[in-house]
Amino acid sequence: MHIPTLIEHKRDGGVLSSGDIRHVIDAFTRGDMPEYQMSALAMAIYFRGMTPEETAALTEAMLHSGTMLLWNDHDPMRVDKHSTGGIGDKTSLILAPLLACDNVWVPMISGRGLGITGGTLDKLESIPGFRTQLNEVEIHNVIDRIGCVMVGQTAGICPADKKLYALRDVTGTVPSIPLITASIMSKKLAEGLNRLVLDVKWGSGAFMKTEADAHHLAQSLVTVGQAMGVRSSVRLSAMNEPTGESAGNALEVAECVRCLKGEGPQDLEDIVLDLASAVSISPRAELRAMLHRGEAWLKFQKMVQAQGGNVETLEKMTSVHRAPFIGELKATASGTLTKMDAGGIGQAVLELGAGRSKAADPIDYAVGCDQIAKTGTQVQAGDVLLRVHARTKGALFRTLDLLPHSIEIV
Ligand code: URA
Repeated sequence: MHIPTLIEHKRDGGVLSSGDIRHVIDAFTRGDMPEYQMSALAMAIYFRGMTPEETAALTEAMLHSGTMLLWNDHDPMRVDKHSTGGIGDKTSLILAPLLACDNVWVPMISGRGLGITGGTLDKLESIPGFRTQLNEVEIHNVIDRIGCVMVGQTAGICPADKKLYALRDVTGTVPSIPLITASIMSKKLAEGLNRLVLDVKWGSGAFMKTEADAHHLAQSLVTVGQAMGVRSSVRLSAMNEPTGESAGNALEVAECVRCLKGEGPQDLEDIVLDLASAVSISPRAELRAMLHRGEAWLKFQKMVQAQGGNVETLEKMTSVHRAPFIGELKATASGTLTKMDAGGIGQAVLELGAGRSKAADPIDYAVGCDQIAKTGTQVQAGDVLLRVHARTKGALFRTLDLLPHSIEIV
């Protein structure tokens, strides 16, 4: 197959066969297709799109570019969740151990934060000693003993996605629904799942800005999941205010510990229970009871220990990582809090140093915001709307000056 001809065919609106797609992905993974040709093809896909069949073929080719987690017939059912990310989205840390209490296995492969949305691996790595880079033998070992594991993509899983995502990131081809679908689903399918729930968010603090785009992405993800034999469902939600009450790595782990003990916050617990019950054996009420009996908290501690993390630090994350400057943002008027803009808060948290603009940027686990008030709350002038944790006095004052633009009281 002549690769320039395939690129021209897609550029002119043609449909690629599954054989063409497999050939391209194999050649690209082996290093036989240069990056300039793959960039051109990605741009052609960005403008021309792909049919559901092409998207499924691309997902399958990327999945088979590497290894998969293999399971035995008598192993428990494997389930997982994928979130398209948002501000303060920390649900994975609660959901994985909770589901593991329900006699299913959760082999969760997660990513790092990029841009304003945080990443599960970064949050977990704020726990001293916690290892997110396990090999496949270690992954199986933790799953066998605990029932859940939370790791990064291994070298063997979906190498085509690793190479292609790096290229898309610098060629303006990330926001393409078929390319996003194949990227997300190839990694999730490599986990060898039976059930998957997709948490697709839209709004100022999400990757997808409009509900229509989020709906379109959700449909594409579910179609591919079902085509590949995984029972897939979706929860579509707005990300206009942060999830829970904190944004920033160690601050979010501290909030997860509270939620794992059944101490809320309510919106976070509700999202976890909605998502978990889409893939669990037990109904939502039973999952809630497990959470409130402290079973998921115990399971989380076991998983942290199995992955090298120091369990002793979990209840003091905010002193293990204490930002030198903490300031309060107070309401200047009384009324109803109508806006706590996730996009604005995410940008502030990124600029404080909690996230990355480029994949190689270091991150600061201590910084971020907590005690973030929820919209709909009645506030009095002088009430604390959130706290800012900063590395320098300058960063603290800059953030306290900027954040009022993201908040509205009427
Ligand atoms: N997350 C991924 O893993 N891939 C994409 O293409 C976009 C978000």
